Amino acid sequence: MTSSLETEPVSYPPAEEFAATANAGSELQEAADADRLAFWATQANRLHWHEQWTEVLDWKGADSDYIAKWFVGGKLNVAYNCVDRHVIDGYGNQVAIHWEGEPGDSRELTYAQLLAEVSRAANYFTEIGLTAGDRVAIYMPMIPEAIVTMLACARLGLIHSVVFAGFSSSALRQRVDDAEARLVVTTDGQWRRGKPAPLKAAVDEALAKGEHSVEHVLVVRRTESEVVWTENRDVWWHDTVANASDQHEAQPFDSEHPLFVLYTSGTTGKPKGIVHTSGGYLTQTSYTHHYVFDHKPGKDVYWCTADIGWVTGHSYIVYGPLSNRVTQVVYEGTPNSPDEHRHWNIVEKYGVSIYYTAPTLVRTFMKWGRQIPQAHDLSSIRLLGSVGEPINPEAWRWYREVIGGNKAPIVDTWWQTETGAIMMSPLPGVTSTKPGAAMGPLPGISAKVVDENGVEVVLGETEANGYLVLDEPWPAMLRGIWGDTERYKSTYWDRYAEQGWYFAGDGARIDVDGAYWILGRVDDVMNVSGHRISTAEVESALVGHHSVAEAAVVGATDATTGQGIVAFVILKASSGSSDELIGELVAHVAHDIGPIAKPKAIHIVPELPKTRSGKIMRRLLRDIAEGRELGDTSTLVDPSVFESIREKSAT
Ligand code: WT7
Repeated sequence: MTSSLETEPVSYPPAEEFAATANAGSELQEAADADRLAFWATQANRLHWHEQWTEVLDWKGADSDYIAKWFVGGKLNVAYNCVDRHVIDGYGNQVAIHWEGEPGDSRELTYAQLLAEVSRAANYFTEIGLTAGDRVAIYMPMIPEAIVTMLACARLGLIHSVVFAGFSSSALRQRVDDAEARLVVTTDGQWRRGKPAPLKAAVDEALAKGEHSVEHVLVVRRTESEVVWTENRDVWWHDTVANASDQHEAQPFDSEHPLFVLYTSGTTGKPKGIVHTSGGYLTQTSYTHHYVFDHKPGKDVYWCTADIGWVTGHSYIVYGPLSNRVTQVVYEGTPNSPDEHRHWNIVEKYGVSIYYTAPTLVRTFMKWGRQIPQAHDLSSIRLLGSVGEPINPEAWRWYREVIGGNKAPIVDTWWQTETGAIMMSPLPGVTSTKPGAAMGPLPGISAKVVDENGVEVVLGETEANGYLVLDEPWPAMLRGIWGDTERYKSTYWDRYAEQGWYFAGDGARIDVDGAYWILGRVDDVMNVSGHRISTAEVESALVGHHSVAEAAVVGATDATTGQGIVAFVILKASSGSSDELIGELVAHVAHDIGPIAKPKAIHIVPELPKTRSGKIMRRLLRDIAEGRELGDTSTLVDPSVFESIREKSAT
């Protein structure tokens, strides 16, 4: 586990002015402590239920394969809650989405317009025969149609599987096959740094070989790039959805009806399809978005800079915010397109008041220099959020000072694809914050830091690091891995089976004041720019190259991206070890998985350090990659391999 913790005595108490109007108060924790399930029932009542539930929670732990049921018997429609409800309540003219295209075009969608678009898509999906429970893959850039498609799926009880548009065609195919998607929704191309890049071509490539489940590919025109057309399979959005009726009545679905599958990396090469359901998920995303971001509908302008390809986009661009009648900015492109001022231009243009991003971007802004944000009026910002990886205290302070004008509270939110919604965070207006700490579980959430035997790590023993576990079920918790109950149980529940706790895979520490610090992954999962990538996935891509005999991959600390991918490869006898080949291997990984999985360094080595049982010693490779003195090598078969690895990687 990484332990780059800086001791940080300073704590920032909430400003009185902020606290005076904050959504959260101390009564929230009191209510949750008094009766946790009654507390969640209150939160669920923030939503519209077509039919009231009869039981808040049905949890049998191991006896029901660790699959919880929340708000049992309740019926709701997630899209109705995110769209129709606000129109019915008289807010049809409120802007839901201020959309900024990368090339400088923009669009505005009110709730009434969003309802019409979602209804059209729902009518078309029905027309082509999709029914509740069918899977739809969404492989799109950040354009309004992507959000419309997600909501249209939710409206019909179709299970969406959003695949990040930066992933490769083979990554798409893997996910399409696993969930057996009947429809793929995509665009002709996507804008990236001022240039159009093909996207539909990747769908064509994904579906080119072998049997698959896809009946239709629905294509939104975005870049006017040329596309190859497969008759009877491919349809244009503007020829179909755009002409469908804008009237559609939402039907209620069971609280436990699956809402989406989202694939995330685990410790093996095969991504896991994390399953989320409706009532509990929407309850917790709505609750957390309201209190953690102190969101005031009709007043705030909210901007979460994530992509809908990740869970942050699902929970904090689509479901949480829209359920709370947000007015939000959605931006299509990169932060330096056309230049490094882009985010601050957008903040000024729309008067963004709540800004939620990842530490890696904060560190990138730091590198670009404070003069860039300081050239703008950022006074509209009143709250800042951080997610995806631990935020180092230096970045935290810079964020607060330069972006937050020394007054906006920072909420460092810890959660995971699996948790579905924020689990730990300070409550703005209530919690004093420490730079770099997620502070503690939110009201209604229960967590512990324990050792490998499940014994709680003693508070106050500052060097005592432990593992983070969740010891009570929570509404937005995953309801399994798509098609793989055994993997679900072994990944999350076997470790503390005796106690019945969920193992989060993160190391953590509780300090003398009771504040929680998340220390990073304790498994073979890397965190690169807040994105989860498994070492095994990159290794399997590398050995898929004809020159590679064996590969070992580690995440090495990187000043900007948190971790960077460093690979050690053994070549097959006939292959040379030129720079050219290394470049080829990097490109090969990018093509196989996606550019986000590109190794920042590849070292060609004659041998890999292994234990006597044949396990690669990643910890030692990480020491080398980070240029540290080697740790304990006594369990190695042949300690001298290090000398050769060091020599090779020094160059
Ligand atoms: C992993 C989950 C949660 C949405 C984005 C990532 C790390 C996440 C924090 C934070 C320290 C964090 C953890 C976690 N992580 N937020 N505030 N402080 N670490 O979702 O891809 O499922 O990754 O991201 O290691 O387990 P994800």
